[in-house]
Amino acid sequence: MIILGIDTSCDDTSVALIEIRNSKTEPRNYGAKVKMRTKFSSPFEIRSNIVSSQVKIHAKYGGVYPFLAKREHQKNLPVVFKRALRQAQGKQKFEKPNLIAVTVGPGLEPCLWVGVSFIKDLAKNLKLSIIPVNHIEAHIIANWLSPIRSKSPPTKIFGGGPAICLVVSGGHTQLILMKNFGNYKILGETRDDAAGECFDKVARILGLPYPGGPAIAAQAAQWKSNIQYPISNIQLPRPMIYQKNYDFSFSGLKTAVLYQYQKSKTEFPFMETRGKKSSKRINPLLTPSLSLGRMKFSSPIKNKKYKQAMAAEVQQAVIDVLIYKTLKATKEFKAKSIILGGGVAANEELRRQFKVQSSLPTGRPTKFKVNFFVPPKKFCTDNAAMVGITAFFHYLKGESRNWQKIFVNANLRI
Ligand code: KG4
Ligand code: ZN
Repeated sequence: MIILGIDTSCDDTSVALIEIRNSKTEPRNYGAKVKMRTKFSSPFEIRSNIVSSQVKIHAKYGGVYPFLAKREHQKNLPVVFKRALRQAQGKQKFEKPNLIAVTVGPGLEPCLWVGVSFIKDLAKNLKLSIIPVNHIEAHIIANWLSPIRSKSPPTKIFGGGPAICLVVSGGHTQLILMKNFGNYKILGETRDDAAGECFDKVARILGLPYPGGPAIAAQAAQWKSNIQYPISNIQLPRPMIYQKNYDFSFSGLKTAVLYQYQKSKTEFPFMETRGKKSSKRINPLLTPSLSLGRMKFSSPIKNKKYKQAMAAEVQQAVIDVLIYKTLKATKEFKAKSIILGGGVAANEELRRQFKVQSSLPTGRPTKFKVNFFVPPKKFCTDNAAMVGITAFFHYLKGESRNWQKIFVNANLRI
């Protein structure tokens, strides 16, 4: 069977086509663990997974501007759709999809509607029902996309224990207890900024490009590779790390970076409007993002090494909190697996340290073996293949809806 997935939840327009082989095309009401497991091993091929990024458009704003993103989705989606079909077709004649799926939330409402309206038209034309997909669940299920899972499939969690899922993206930071596919409980989440949002804002303070996560990771890697500067005197807090809950808070971390940055500055960033320099001092974090977007900050004269050291410290502060709380939850809920997802899960250092911590005897929080799963990087950031594969598992449970019953919910919970 062929599954078509669409994601327009934030600033990436994505369409994917997945072929599932050896699967029965009749939906069944699967609930039994064993049946789910055999179905999860169905061989599949990602025939296409086109992601059209709007990064260049939003870079000057230092974040996503929803109405601009909506306009771009409207422009890009038909093009991305055609490209995905063309790529999937290959040399054979392409069959009509058997299943169509779209992200309905959470995300930016105007953006979500672009994908949803598009798929509703498609559903009418193709006479198909739609599988509505939760973006957070899709980030988790992205772990099922990789063939390298054959050795140690995450489906093990269905064989005897829950999993702790950490979804870390630009819009969300959630720690989720997953007892089975479709059975989730949010244990904690960020009370303010998401981890990715923190990286994006810190990058802006440091004069690094958007999206901030990869830029900070690159600076941090440079710092670590520099033997001349192995230790910095920059110290940032690890917010809420030892609190008796599973919530997070990253807004204070960003403020701590700002204060430290200002304290050690050699020149304050000044505002430039319409090419003219103004000496008026501004705090980039207190200025509404849209008006910020129209201004340019001159790069303050900062020591290159200082920026690298700050990037390394902020990255480590975020990693420390994420790993500590995830391991704590793993222990409390006797989880068999830790499952990562979301754009921040593409962070090399986070992946490496999670791998080490979840396998070390001292780091191992339970007497059980803890499996650690993270999708390949291209499936961590937003993509439609994760929507398609999530939809397949919902299809196996017999869940699909008539196009008239598909709506957007920007604040959808898992
Ligand atoms: O999941 P995603 O593509 O979109 C949302 O659903 O939000 O995540 C985007 C976020 C951005 O904040 C970006 O800075 C962050 O993921 N990100 C990273 C890396 N790649 C993307 N953060 C840290 N390290 C990375 N390598
Ligand atoms: Zn996402």
